[in-house]
This record gives sequence, structure tokens and C-alpha cells, in this order.
Amino acid sequence: MASFHQRVFSGMQPTSTLHLGNYLGALTNWVAMQETHECIYCVVDMHAITMWQDPADLKRAIREVTAAYVAAGIDTKKSIIFNQSQVSGHAELAWITNCVVRLGWMNRMTQFKEKAGKDKENASLGLYAYPSLMAADILLYKATHVPVGEDQKQHLELTRDTAQKFNNDFAAQIAGLELGTGDLGFFPLPEPMTQGPAPRVMSLRDGTKKMSKSDASDNSRINLTDDAETIATKIRKAKTDPDALPSEEKGLEGRAEAENLVGIYAGLNGQTKTQVLAEFGGSQFSGFKAALVDLAVAKLSPIAGEMRRLLDDVSHIDAILGRGAERAEAIAAPIMRDVKDIVGFVRRG
Ligand code: TYM
Repeated sequence: MASFHQRVFSGMQPTSTLHLGNYLGALTNWVAMQETHECIYCVVDMHAITMWQDPADLKRAIREVTAAYVAAGIDTKKSIIFNQSQVSGHAELAWITNCVVRLGWMNRMTQFKEKAGKDKENASLGLYAYPSLMAADILLYKATHVPVGEDQKQHLELTRDTAQKFNNDFAAQIAGLELGTGDLGFFPLPEPMTQGPAPRVMSLRDGTKKMSKSDASDNSRINLTDDAETIATKIRKAKTDPDALPSEEKGLEGRAEAENLVGIYAGLNGQTKTQVLAEFGGSQFSGFKAALVDLAVAKLSPIAGEMRRLLDDVSHIDAILGRGAERAEAIAAPIMRDVKDIVGFVRRG
């Protein structure tokens, strides 16, 4: 049966330091997927500038996110790590996806509404078009699997719709290419992979809000660069309720903060929430938080240490990105050539 080559693509914005949500919602899954898939992990600097970034800070953040990928366990021998702006196919394909995506689809994107806030007139065109660039990122490599946190699911649906519409609009031209994918079309419809016990890590100050780099309170999140003392303080201060922990998962219903902390523990320890509750059911938060501090420090401190070590040698980080960009380009170039033929562009031989 015809099928697509299995390939993973995902990315993170270098807008500030990565936090526990990025780590548990995405990075840990990225590391695991290296064992089974060809993986491409991007630092999406072009997405970052959809909102104002100080250029010097942006450069620093690109390198810091790269260091975080490596420190968390992405193996540059196996997987590709690069920054988006080094592979021009992202911008080129984004123009074509801009012409496939419908305004009606874009107007439903909740993240634009959140990020643009009340002052929509003053948001950049790039912020509005952002999901179309994200579709281009994924389709440029014909990626089949995209490990992301739950907040990115709507963008993945838009990516699938874009792939489907392109496949339909250009069905005759695609059939002429004889790709060996039969009726499947040119672009695969990528699967979002939201796995594990923490696909949506919530703020430590408010269990109904997602943990986010844009939250004004630094106590709402644990940054991958936080030292042990800071991690301990943030967890001790985390909002909870007065009851003891339940012994079963259904006892977490309606207890957003408790559920979040149990999910974080499970994610950090490679367990399910059920397993965590089997151990801590009946415990008071004081005891559970102490165990969570120990676990979080044990898991995150080595990553912070390794990031610091890597960031001491910027030329090494830049070399990782450069080499990754060459490898990414080698995959993207023939796909981009086919796309140009399909839409009817005349190109140099
Ligand atoms: P970004 O940079 O906001 O987040 C990077 C990854 O971290 C996940 N994440 C979370 N997961 C669980 N709980 C949280 N509180 C939390 N906060 C963030 C995100 O779901 C994401 O997986 N648009 C993307 C970047 C992107 C991309 C792509 C991703 C651009 N092109 C192509 C995949 C494929 C973004 O802004 O992620």
C-alpha cells in the first residue's frame, strides 16, 4: 500500500527562556521520538518576530533554545536541529500556503485573538498569518508526525486542512508527478502527537491558565534555567487547595491546581497520574510538594547546568545550527522544487 515516509517535525519560539510546559508538553516527547523516527527540530525565529523582539535578545534566545534542545537530550547526530530563517523554503512555501489558506479559517484561530488582545488593529500581519507559516514549516518536509502541547492542536488542524486543500486543488498536477503515494496526494496530513501526562501544564498561580512565558508573574512558571532554590520557592508557593491528595484520578476532578501538580510530577518521573496517586494518595500538599521539589531539582538542574556549559561556546552552537540547516535544506529542496512545478511556476533548470 502506498504511504508516506514517516518524519517528525516540531519547533519552539525563541522568545524567552523555555519553561516546564515546553519541556513536559513537547521536549520530552521529542527526545523519545528520536528512537523511532527521523526527526527535525526547529528554532522558529521567523515566528518569534511576529511580535517585537529586541535583535540582540533574539540572537541570544535562538542560541539558548538550541542549547536547551541539546541539554534535554536531542542528539544532533540522529536528529536535525536548526533555526528556521536559515532555510529559505519556510518563507517560500509560506507564501504558497498563504494563497491556499482561507480567511475564514484564519479568523477562527484562538491564539491570534489571545495574542493580539484588544488592540487588533495594531497587531502585525505576520502575527495573523502565523499559522500559515507553521503549516509551511511542517509541509516543507512532508512531516507525518508533529509532537506538540495541546495548545497547538488548532494550528495542526489548520495544517491538515491546508495540506488537504492543496492536494485537492492541484490533484491533476500531482497525479502527473508519479510520486508513488497513489491517491494520498502530495502532502501527508500530519498527525499531532500530544502524549504523556502533561500535554497542558498550567500556571503555578492559577490552575485554569496555561503555563506561559507571557505571564507577568515569574512565579507562575518554572524556567529551564531556574536554579534549585528558585524551583523550590516556586513549588512551595504554588497554589493548592486545603484537601489531601486523592488516591484515584477521578478525585482530581474540579481540583485544577492539584491535577496540575500531579501531572507535573508524573511527567517529570515518567509515570502516569494513577501511579503518582497510588503513592501519594492521602498525603497533604506539604509532603507532596517536598517530593516534587526534590524530583524537579533532580531532573531540571542537570539540564540547566548543561545549557550553561553549551552557551559558553557560542561557535559550537552556531555550528550545530549551520550543519542542521544544511541537512534540513537537503530534504526541503526537492519538495520545494516539486511544489513550484505543481503550482505552475517556471524555474531555473
Ligand atoms: P511555543 O514556542 O509556544 O511552544 C513550544 C512547544 O511547547 C508547548 N507548550 C506547552 N505544552 C504544555 N503545556 C504548556 N503550558 C505549554 N506551553 C507551550 C507547545 O504546545 C509547543 O509544542 N507555534 C508553535 C511553534 C511552531 C511549531 C511549528 C510547532 C512553529 N512552527 C511547526 C510545531 C510544528 C509555538 O508557538 O510553540
